[in-house]
Amino acid sequence: MDPFREFPVVDEIPQDLSPELAAKIRFDVPNSARTWNYLMGGKDHYPADRAAGEAFVERYPEMVVMAKQARQFLIRMVRFLARDAGIRQFLDIGTGLPTMQNTHEVAQSVAPESKVVYVDNDPVVLAHARALLTNTTPEGVTAYIDADVHDPDLIVSDARNLLNFNQPVAVMFMGLLGHVVDDEEMHSIVARVMDAVPSGSYLVNYEGTNTSRAYVETLEGWAKAGAAPYVARSPEQIGRLFDGMEMVDPGVVPVSRWRPEAHEVGAVPPFVDAFGAVARKP
Ligand SMILES: C[S@@+](CC[C@H](N)C(=O)[O-])C[C@H]1O[C@@H](n2cnc3c(N)ncnc32)[C@H](O)[C@@H]1O
Repeated sequence: MDPFREFPVVDEIPQDLSPELAAKIRFDVPNSARTWNYLMGGKDHYPADRAAGEAFVERYPEMVVMAKQARQFLIRMVRFLARDAGIRQFLDIGTGLPTMQNTHEVAQSVAPESKVVYVDNDPVVLAHARALLTNTTPEGVTAYIDADVHDPDLIVSDARNLLNFNQPVAVMFMGLLGHVVDDEEMHSIVARVMDAVPSGSYLVNYEGTNTSRAYVETLEGWAKAGAAPYVARSPEQIGRLFDGMEMVDPGVVPVSRWRPEAHEVGAVPPFVDAFGAVARKP
């Protein structure tokens, strides 16, 4: 039996959403942000998302480790950019639902004056972002743009109102570009945003990769269930996103192996089917 077909009846439509927002939410199909939140151990998901999360775990148990390692990568990478690279502006495209240690918390814990702009097109992410992600330190700024990654020009023009595009910006595409299934379009989106930011800016990306057959097959089940398709590309394809940029060591690696912290060294970090990298725009 296909576990993705076993969707429970929707029984938890939240009462506190505005009718306008509730009308935009699909409760009957699993959703990327909510299922990812479920896999990371969060609380913001509905029955269809939990069923999809369970289907993932059943077919591909490593998914939970991948989700948690992806968040640890985000934390280490934002800390590196704020502390070692001196970055004070972050554009986090494909934000996801708030979970432990979001980009603004990590950046502002190192440099309270950091400005963080989140971008997502999911109505539930939007509702949470308004409440949780727009809190700001006295010095810093955290803001939210409701936009689709397929419209990079809108993202850039809205972000220009919030960030100073004469100063370096860390542009983060974290677990989002797999939803852009066309390769050419993916490259054009990244290029449009990176062309808008100055020299000294950074590009950061991680995505689930086609390094495991079980993972790829599970993603096929996910798409068949009516969820937004996610294509797992190869590590080499991910590497090509950084062409022409100065790669930060150790390059394109499983996210778990990108600069593991001192307390993690000693044990070899697990291999995960998600590769990521950080690079500087020359
Ligand atoms: C797998 S989650 C990753 C969340 C977070 N970046 C992380 O790494 O934990 C993918 C995110 O991309 C967002 N997303 C998917 N398609 C999108 C689109 N077309 N435009 C903007 N955001 C999108 C989803 O709403 C979700 O928040």
